[in-house]
Amino acid sequence: MTRLLFAASEAVPLVKTGGLADVAGALPAALIALGVDVRVVLPAYRGCLDKLEAPTVIGAMTVRGQSFRIWEGRLAGSPVIHWLVDYAPLYGRDGDPYHDPQHRPWSDNAWRFGCFCEAVARLAAGEGSGGWKPDVVHCHDWQTGLVPAWLKLRMAGPRAVFTIHNLAYGGLFPRAAFESLGLPPGWWSIDGLEFYGQMSFLKAGLVYSDVITTVSPRYADEIRTPAFGCGFEGVLDKLSARVHGILNGIDTDAWNPATDAQLAQTYSSSTLKAGKLANRHALQDELRLPRDEAMTVVGMIGRLTDQKGFDLVVAALPELMKLPVQLAILGAGDKALEAELAIAATRYPGRIGLKLGYDDQLARRIEAGSDLFLMPSRFEPCGLNQMYSQRYGTVPVVHRVGGLADTVVDATPRTLKNGTATGVVFEDADVGGIVYGVSRGVELMHDPIARIGLQHSGMSRDFSWAASARQYLALYR
Ligand code: ADP
Ligand code: GLC
Repeated sequence: MTRLLFAASEAVPLVKTGGLADVAGALPAALIALGVDVRVVLPAYRGCLDKLEAPTVIGAMTVRGQSFRIWEGRLAGSPVIHWLVDYAPLYGRDGDPYHDPQHRPWSDNAWRFGCFCEAVARLAAGEGSGGWKPDVVHCHDWQTGLVPAWLKLRMAGPRAVFTIHNLAYGGLFPRAAFESLGLPPGWWSIDGLEFYGQMSFLKAGLVYSDVITTVSPRYADEIRTPAFGCGFEGVLDKLSARVHGILNGIDTDAWNPATDAQLAQTYSSSTLKAGKLANRHALQDELRLPRDEAMTVVGMIGRLTDQKGFDLVVAALPELMKLPVQLAILGAGDKALEAELAIAATRYPGRIGLKLGYDDQLARRIEAGSDLFLMPSRFEPCGLNQMYSQRYGTVPVVHRVGGLADTVVDATPRTLKNGTATGVVFEDADVGGIVYGVSRGVELMHDPIARIGLQHSGMSRDFSWAASARQYLALYR
């Protein structure tokens, strides 16, 4: 039986800022179903321990002079065993895993995650783990990038898989951070973790792992080009033989319109019409949008960063508002963008329903209550919301990029006819592309046959984790 240590900086339901948490919450269970023996390891952020059932301390270790404790526990009803690396001065703070309560990155993030990585590598070597040792360590994004590096030093340790969820976050820090973490001086080189004069945690993950994966096949190709490589394209091109694109799945139990307790009314494909209407009305009421049947409701949810293209939507508003659409927007992040969205919402009363903040329950109601779901991302390693939309009978309108292109089938005369179309895929992440995509979406929503066809083929797609988990298992082996 393969023994796997799965290391991440966030996982639902313990802690979530984005899609990584959804992946780290669902993939381990899918691997367990295939017979893999898994431990998921995270920092013990404030409140996480309380979510585990009867946690116990299984070990302790001193990391750079600090006394870390290792807790083991499970979530109620889950087969997954979690390990939490506990050291309150570093991890037990208010705020999210990466930011203080004012959304400023913690000034000691290199130290926080550097120490976490060292702890994970030592756990992987059997220290403080109650004797359990993995065959493979699967690391995710820059926060775990030093784990493969520490493992390489030991030579005979477990193999490392490193998954890139987002290359835009390189885990870049000044040289002083490198020195403070006690890393071998020889690693400060172009073949090590030096990156244009800084230290990159992500580059360490790429260079020192045995296998690299990204979260969609198309992104695996895109990142070898300057347009998407964020400066890592050269390294990735050199390592291309070990780079694999494996599409994310979604947790089809957690995201199921037939059982979702947050919805005004649950529904399935056989009760779609009434279910969608009830949820649309409830969403319009909740966001103070009039129940105007002539309007198409367009949902948007996401982190407010350059990646997601909310700024492009703001720029497109004068044109978009000429179309019969209402926008239902939920987002948090960049403060300037939050302010721009708030101004836009007051400029177009009754047309834009906006909630700034993080709200998992409203996210579900937007997925259920919208007709279209817009994702104009400039880049998107995978993206989950376009898959959630399809499952909820909401038609995605997406930029042809990364995982969006891999998971949405554009409505053309041919795909509409053969029943494979699930959404609208537009070519350019700019005002013209967005206006084209949304107007095409509106047009399809007014064609009853096309609309039902798109909704039903989206709802019947299998986005469950089983197939992707099998691909990961093959790589581990
Ligand atoms: P990313 O990981 O780049 O943020 P994904 O599409 O992979 O993008 O995943 C984002 C996840 O986070 C989705 O589950 C989405 O619903 C959720 N999410 C993003 N922003 C918010 C928010 N403001 N409130 C609630 N959920 C959010
Ligand atoms: C990242 C990406 C997103 C992806 C998620 C989970 O945050 O931005 O596209 O879906 O990770 O892999």
